[in-house]
This record gives sequence, structure tokens and C-alpha cells, in this order.
Amino acid sequence: MDVISVIRTKRDRGELSDAQIDWVIDAYTRGEVADEQMSALAMAILLNGMNRREIARWTAAMIASGERMDFSSLSRPTADKHSTGGVGDKITLPLAPLVAACGAAVPQLSGRGLGHTGGTLDKLESIPGWRALLSNEEMLNVLDTTGAVICAAGDGLAPADKKLYALRDVTGTVEAIPLIASSIMSKKIAEGTGSLVLDVKVGTGAFMRTLEDARELASTMVGLGTDHGVKTVALLTDMATPLGLTAGNALEVRESVEVLAGGGPADVVELTIALAREMLDAAGIKDADPAKALADGSAMDVWRRMIAAQGGDPDAALPVAREQHVIKAPSSGVLTRLDAYDIGVAAWRLGAGRARKEDPVQAGAGVEMHAKPGDTVTEGQPLLTLHTDTPERFDYALQAVEGSYDIAAPGTAFTASPVVLE
Ligand code: URA
Repeated sequence: MDVISVIRTKRDRGELSDAQIDWVIDAYTRGEVADEQMSALAMAILLNGMNRREIARWTAAMIASGERMDFSSLSRPTADKHSTGGVGDKITLPLAPLVAACGAAVPQLSGRGLGHTGGTLDKLESIPGWRALLSNEEMLNVLDTTGAVICAAGDGLAPADKKLYALRDVTGTVEAIPLIASSIMSKKIAEGTGSLVLDVKVGTGAFMRTLEDARELASTMVGLGTDHGVKTVALLTDMATPLGLTAGNALEVRESVEVLAGGGPADVVELTIALAREMLDAAGIKDADPAKALADGSAMDVWRRMIAAQGGDPDAALPVAREQHVIKAPSSGVLTRLDAYDIGVAAWRLGAGRARKEDPVQAGAGVEMHAKPGDTVTEGQPLLTLHTDTPERFDYALQAVEGSYDIAAPGTAFTASPVVLE
């Protein structure tokens, strides 16, 4: 087999055979196919697509590139959740301990932020002492003793995806439905969860900007999971507006702890409970009440044990950025739009995200929102607070938030988009 013929097949809108797919994924993982050849193939896939058979085979080949985990020794059913990425999307933080408090085991392999979307591991690393990197044995131990674990995928899990995702990120080939679906599902299937709830984000702050594309991504992923024996469901959820009132690492941990303490922004609470219900249902746990587990402190108990089991101090003060800049409302009226992409870019430019994979992130950097669409604001009141350790970043972040919001005349009627769209 030679890689040029595989690239030409897809470039010329042909179908890749099973043998071509198996060979190219294996050869790329072993370093026999070069990055420039794989990026040409990824671009051909982005432009010309793949049918369901090709996507299924591509996913199976990525799973086979590494090890598979096994949670069959656990006494509880396993349930996992994956978000396709958004701004202010801290849901995993309260959700994993909440679902564990309701009786499931939650093995949550998570990622880091890249570009304008935040990453769960970057957020949790703002907790002093907390470790994202666990051996498979440690992961199983935390899961067994606390009911939930949030950690990085080990090197052995779907190594083909690790290489390919890093390559796609720098070659403009992230936004291809076959590549996103196979990337996410290869890791989740290799992880060995019994059930999986997908939170497919739709809107300016998401990879999928239209409902139609989000539906296609969701149904492709549900099909892949189901074919591999993982009970998989998907919700399409709004990402035109950031989730909650914070975007940034420590800022989002603080907000997640508020949710676990029974408070927090209404949209974060609503989505956390909606996803918890789906996860419990998929895991076959019928009689649990996630709203009660948030209110009675049992989810908070699991959070504290889970953070401590991974070396973190749940009582430690969270880092705060050295500098703040407040943006005030230029007029009085009703806030009718707060753009998720613009806020995500501002948080990223303030230092909450990274431009290259190896860059460090600032724990305290990000954007705090003082109003959400539908709220009435008064001229001169704080609308956004920008946080960073490096104030020379303010100008660049201010350019991102310019035009990120609309304020309509006082009394303007406004209907908020539902959090869960479908
Ligand atoms: N998350 C992933 O793991 N892979 C993608 O391709 C996109 C989001």
C-alpha cells in the first residue's frame, strides 16, 4: 500500500477501502506516513467527506491503534459525558461528582483548551496540588473509591487520535464531521465506558454553527457508539451565549463550586441536571434525583473526595489574576446578545488559553460577565471584567469584546434561547 494512492482516492472523491483505512492509520501511528501526507489526507476528507462505512472503519482503526481500558471490575455502572467544546463550559466539574453521588461511576477523560474553547484539565489545574496525569491503576483506584475521576487520557489510549488531532489543529482541518466524530468516539470507546452522553454544542462559540451540522455530528457519533455496544445519546445545546458568568480557569472552578454548593448561574445548573438525568438513565439508574444531590451536599462531598484523591486541596484559595479591567455598559436597556465566540477569544487572549500546545495558561485569567442576555442593565454599570496577570494583553482582549454585545432600548421584549435545543 502507498500513501499517495490513499490521498489520491479521497482527493478524487472516491471511497477509501477498509484496507486503505487500516493501513494509513497504522502507518501514521508508527511514523511511516509523514505529517504532511496525513494533513493532505485530512484536508481531502474535510473537503470531500466520508460515508458512514468509512467513518466506522476509521474510528475502529483509531481504537485499534492503542489499548482499551476495562471497568468491568467496578460494582457500579459506568457513565461518561463529552462536550464538543464551548465557552464557559465548566459542566464536567459539577456533573461528574453529581452523577457519582447518584450511584454511577464516572470515568471522565478530559482535554485541554486550545484556541477559544476552554479545557477541563486546565480549569482543574488551577486547584493547588491537583494532578491531571494518572496511571491507569491510579485512575481506576480514584474511580473505585470516590465514584468519579477527571483526568487526561493516557498515552496508550487512541494514540492515532493524539497525533492526528494535534496535526488537524495546525492545518485548518478540525471542523470536519467525520474527523471530529471519529476523534471523540475512538477515545470514548477505547476508554470502555458502558454509556455515554454527548453534549453537542451549537452556535458561534462551537465548532458546529448550525443545527443541521450539529444534528449530523450527533447522529454520526451516536451511531458509532451504538455499533460498539456503548449506550450513547446526544443533546444539542446552545453555545451562542457563554455558559454561566465566567470564562477562564480558576474563575470557572469557583463557579462550579457555587453550583455544587446549591447556588450558581441558572443555565449551568439547568444543563448540569439535564445531562445528569441523561447519564443516569443511560446507566440504568432510575430512582436518583440529581437536583436533590446538588441541594443536600452529597455531590459536593464527592467533589471534595475526588479533588483530594488527585492531590488537590479542595479548601485552598483559588488563584486570582493580578490585574482587572472593567468594561461598563455604554447605555441603559436590555442586553439582547453576548457572543460566545468573542468572549472565548477575549479569555484566550487574556491568557486563559494557549496559542500553541506547549504554551502555559494563566490560572486566574479570563472574563467575568455581570449580565446575561435578557438582563436589564444601567448605563455605567460593570458589564464585563477582564482578568489577567499580564496587563499588556488588555488591548488585544478589548478588541475581541468590542461588538460582542447588543443593548436594546429599555423594556424591549426578549426571549432567551433554551439551554437544551434538542
Ligand atoms: N474534541 C475532540 O476530542 N476531537 C475533535 O476533533 C474535536 C473535539
